Amino acid sequence: MVLAYSGGLDTSVMVKWIQEKYPANVITVTVDVGQLDDLEEIEEKAKAVGAVKHYSIDAKKEFVTDYVFPAIKANALYEGKYPLSSALSRPLIVSKLVEVAKKEGASAVAHGCTGRGNDQVRFDVTIKSLAPDLKIIAPVREWGLTREEEIKFAEAKGLSIPCSANSTYSIDQNLWGRAIECGPLDDPNNEPPEEIFEWTASPEKAPDTPEYVSIKFEDGVPCALNGEDLDPVTLIEELNKIAGKHGVGRIDHIEDRLVGIKSREVYECPAATVLLEAHKDLEKMVLTRHEVLFKQQIDAQWTFLAYAGLWTEPLKDALEAFINKTQERVNGEVHVKLYKGGLRVVRRSSKLSLYNQNLVNYNIKTSFNQSHAEGFVELWGLPTTVFNALKNKVMLAEEPKTPPKIPKTLAIRKRKSC
Ligand code: ARG
Repeated sequence: MVLAYSGGLDTSVMVKWIQEKYPANVITVTVDVGQLDDLEEIEEKAKAVGAVKHYSIDAKKEFVTDYVFPAIKANALYEGKYPLSSALSRPLIVSKLVEVAKKEGASAVAHGCTGRGNDQVRFDVTIKSLAPDLKIIAPVREWGLTREEEIKFAEAKGLSIPCSANSTYSIDQNLWGRAIECGPLDDPNNEPPEEIFEWTASPEKAPDTPEYVSIKFEDGVPCALNGEDLDPVTLIEELNKIAGKHGVGRIDHIEDRLVGIKSREVYECPAATVLLEAHKDLEKMVLTRHEVLFKQQIDAQWTFLAYAGLWTEPLKDALEAFINKTQERVNGEVHVKLYKGGLRVVRRSSKLSLYNQNLVNYNIKTSFNQSHAEGFVELWGLPTTVFNALKNKVMLAEEPKTPPKIPKTLAIRKRKSC
């Protein structure tokens, strides 16, 4: 059996639990998507809790180019707020899990997702799509143990408990962001305590001078930061640091999970927040109005599929065909100003810009012929003015209605019975 192993309490306990329940050897797989964990330490842990073999797979580049970049092109913010950081990593982790399972001739794969979250959907649907013959084991969903019970189980079996086991929070992180749940955050009426933030400075303590960053986009994806061409992973790592320093990218919202639960989610996504804002801004300059407005619907649908565990859904490919066509013209540079937790696009330029200063200027004679405007307005408003003309006519024709008279006796009786 191949297990997606994070090195945390759940998946460590799982190795032992699986071995007790099934006649299986457990091979562990840790996929590096930029979670900043010590991979060697994780490998040691895996072996210590009983894994017969361990794979550490560096998938950072693939994560950015094949998962994060499509999300940028789709301006992906679930419910207008969440850049999908955890959601995007799941189908990639599954693809690596399945690859190892095939290579090792495994008959089953296991993961540590609970039955309350979205991740189980992302794991299971993607596994079933890529390798329908693999059996899926989800011990946490099955056993329903609390954290304390897991710790007791680990102690009883003589397993060394990962030091993060007593942590109040459940944290998932990768290059695209950091998700923090549980503890005091479970009450949506509690302000997130400062201690949970690791990638972003408190806006109050951020530098007093604003900082500008410029991002160059080519075919809808970022390729240079402050004029320097960077590989995709470095660009995001650098931007996480710069924007994080200014407290940019803190997100606190009520999220609708697929299983019907509303959850309070806190994220730190500095680079994602800047890149999504910059990309959206550039699109507005190079795409036509019709493209911009139609794309908003396509983007929302793409975002929902990615959130909802349907990475392998053919509709996603079809939406991407449209999105990629539009991105052929999303080339240019955007300047963003970062200051005390906030960000603003302050400049943008593109050789493919549709913005025409000659047309827009109110003060000089331009090639925009205003004499055409009157006829345009007439026809544009025609359906609406026709309706309103009818409405006014009907209202005028209607008799003013007098309220029905209630006999006095009935009115008094009614009041009494109240
Ligand atoms: N709610 C987010 C999602 O479903 C993030 C989940 C992150 N998990 C965690 N253990 N904090 O994509």
